[in-house]
Amino acid sequence: MVSLQILSLAEIAKHNTAEDCWIIIEGKVYDVTKYAPDHPGGAEVLFSVAGVDGTDGFNDIGHSTDARKELETMLIGTLEGAPVTWPYHPPPYMKLSTDSTRLLFSMKRLLSTQRPIRDLL
Ligand code: HEM
Repeated sequence: MVSLQILSLAEIAKHNTAEDCWIIIEGKVYDVTKYAPDHPGGAEVLFSVAGVDGTDGFNDIGHSTDARKELETMLIGTLEGAPVTWPYHPPPYMKLSTDSTRLLFSMKRLLSTQRPIRDLL
């Protein structure tokens, strides 16, 4: 699986040209540079939201399921602080926190199965 980067608005904003064009759609970041000339709606609409959030434009058109599938092939990262959307690719730190949560719960379970100390006294 491709590892996704967490990108800030400031970082994304640097990729705002026809030669280097990133777009945010629903909290995810896509590199549409190579795709732009082939976009059925024209390259210009993509460049008009280069480096910024194009969610409204994307959704207003009511893009097809195929368009959405194509979009996912260009996924490079998630917007910093974006809400969780589906399909969700958890960043590495989330996996870590899930593991530590599990560890905490198994420790709690283990402790709760032990006889209380006062019974041993
Ligand atoms: C990388 C992201 C995008 C992909 C993969 C994509 C893909 C497509 C595809 C496959 C179509 C043909 C119709 C369909 O299958 O729905 C289409 C049409 C279109 N798209 Fe996009 N699109 C993207 C982003 C955007 C954005 C951000 C905008 C506007 C800000 C936009 C505006 C349009 C327009 C205006 C059409 C033409 C609709 C028509 O002429 O009937 N697209 N797009």
